[in-house]
Amino acid sequence: MIMATTIEDKPAEQHAFEADVSRLLHMMVHSVYSDKDVFLRELISNAADACEKLRYEAISHPELAPDGVRPRILIRLDADKNQLVVEDNGIGMSRDEMAEALGTIARSGTRAFMERLEAAKGGEKAELIGQFGVGFYSAFMVADRVEVVSRRTAQPEAWLWASDGKGTYSIAAADPADAPERGTRVTLHLMEDAKTYTGKWTVERIVREQSGHVPVPIELIEKDGAEPSQVTDGAALWTKPKSEITKEAYTDFYRSVSGQYDDPLLNVHFRAEGLHEYTALAFVPGTQPFDLFDVDRHGRMKLYVRRVFITDEAELLPRYLRFVRGIVDTSDLPLNISREMIQDSPVLAAIRKGVTGRVLGAIEKLPETDAETFAKIWELFGAILKEGIYEDFERRDQLLKLARFRTTASADGVRSLDDYVKDMKDGQDGIYYITGPSLEQLRASPHLEGFRAKGIEVLLLADAVDSFWTSNVGEFQGKAFKSVTQGLADLDKVGGGDTADGEKAEAPAEVASLIAYMKDALKDQVSDVRSSGRLTESAVCLVASDQGPDRQLEKILQGAGRMKTASKPVLELNAGSSLIRVVAGLSDEAAREDAAWLLLDEARVLDGDRPADPRAFAGRLARLFEKAHGGA
Ligand SMILES: Nc1ncnc2c1ncn2[C@@H]1O[C@H](COP(=O)(O)OP(=O)(O)O)[C@@H](O)[C@H]1O
Ligand SMILES: [Mg+2]
Repeated sequence: MIMATTIEDKPAEQHAFEADVSRLLHMMVHSVYSDKDVFLRELISNAADACEKLRYEAISHPELAPDGVRPRILIRLDADKNQLVVEDNGIGMSRDEMAEALGTIARSGTRAFMERLEAAKGGEKAELIGQFGVGFYSAFMVADRVEVVSRRTAQPEAWLWASDGKGTYSIAAADPADAPERGTRVTLHLMEDAKTYTGKWTVERIVREQSGHVPVPIELIEKDGAEPSQVTDGAALWTKPKSEITKEAYTDFYRSVSGQYDDPLLNVHFRAEGLHEYTALAFVPGTQPFDLFDVDRHGRMKLYVRRVFITDEAELLPRYLRFVRGIVDTSDLPLNISREMIQDSPVLAAIRKGVTGRVLGAIEKLPETDAETFAKIWELFGAILKEGIYEDFERRDQLLKLARFRTTASADGVRSLDDYVKDMKDGQDGIYYITGPSLEQLRASPHLEGFRAKGIEVLLLADAVDSFWTSNVGEFQGKAFKSVTQGLADLDKVGGGDTADGEKAEAPAEVASLIAYMKDALKDQVSDVRSSGRLTESAVCLVASDQGPDRQLEKILQGAGRMKTASKPVLELNAGSSLIRVVAGLSDEAAREDAAWLLLDEARVLDGDRPADPRAFAGRLARLFEKAHGGA
């Protein structure tokens, strides 16, 4: 129990960590991770955030930061006590804020990160921890006891949070005389094997490497009583001319602004002048951020006004660019702009448009200048960018041109729509596609057979978003998008391929009568039964009716509870298949009925679904077998 620094004579309150925090701490302490240095960048980044928050609050409440109080981060080393202290003069925390911030996991990304971390194996684990900010709790990688003393700006009382990282923490009132005048002091009682973090050179090197572009100056006191020396100056990187910024400096800045520790794939740094004046420095990350698929789809670009951090919630880019990280700094907005004003500020609308154009423009150039990087970006973020095809009418054509697809004509690589249109067959007037849950399932789909036989390329669309944009984008360069699972496949008009013309034009008489029979027998399940123009090997498949919605979209909407009843599909038979001929030749009425239902279930299974009634399915299968082989 820690009572030394409490002012009253009552013991500090003990609290248990939220279960997720305990799990995270456990992973942290037992991490196989060799590079423990990262704890320092996390503490510094929190200190810098706190300074920036205060800078922002002080705009409307100048008394919070009287003249002469410069934001700064101070690192204090004490080799004798084996301690490292990170102190800031930022916003500080109240008692409740402390309990909330240092006892729970507020960041949704952290949760996703933990799930991935737990699923990862040995080496991958270290890589994951290295790539993503793991936050305050990483202090327990090097310390067996952490104390945080904090004073929320303009409040008289200060609070002490303390924990040994083993399941509980305590909060107590701190002695105000011993607390920072404003801000937060984090004291690490280092483990024996972490003594190296009390060495001036080691710590300076780590700070320069990891936090060289944090926008608050960082100072260091190497031992009690020594003068502070400046390690970094806190100058804003984006205000410097591009020619003076090295690749390493950009990477370093990217890491501190994004909290990710990978290498960015692309950076876009420009200054807009004229109608609106602003500087933007934006990065395309080298890995997927953990919150990429969060339902709220928030972006993280930071808005600065004349170098003062305002908010990272201004949505400076459209949702489909939410993976982009970086900053926009403008002099066209008042410093005291409120969140509400930001929402509908015409200045920001113009900035959003400008930055979006520049970022997309930079990505667009890549296929020519750096195809490898483009391929990586598309692989990581293509599914997100495609949301724009659906949502951003103005940039729809631009995004369609940018998009790359797996197709039946590409083994491993990807193809653009330009490639597709250029290679279209004579007589082909549409861009064919199929949507579904996975590439493997799509490649195995019976719907593709006729297209393969004719050598007609089909886009294989396996992202959920594909079902949406294909349903509302009519065409590309005058060519209509057509689902191969919808309507009639009029493949006869398209030249080439090796199926003889007219081969499947007319179904033989027995098949025609089977079709008529099935239409009636299955009328509650399907809207029509007909001879297929798209099958060459499989006996059956299901398609959507000409006017009906795409079947994959229907499945997604039903899965999400946004659509009640599915519309009835059309069952197509391959008149050329031996199975259909055999069924058509059955004279036993009961056997024919069982076979009709089994064919429908087969089509469902080929579609990735289950038989509608598994028990009835099993019964029918058994009866047919027994009839054929039971000698009854
Ligand atoms: N030096 C500090 N000053 C003020 N608040 C802090 C400080 N360090 C941590 N916090 C609070 O603790 C929270 C959790 O920190 P952390 O685990 O690093 O996650 P993140 O910084 O991504 O929010 C912060 O969001 C902040 O509210
Ligand atoms: Mg942090």
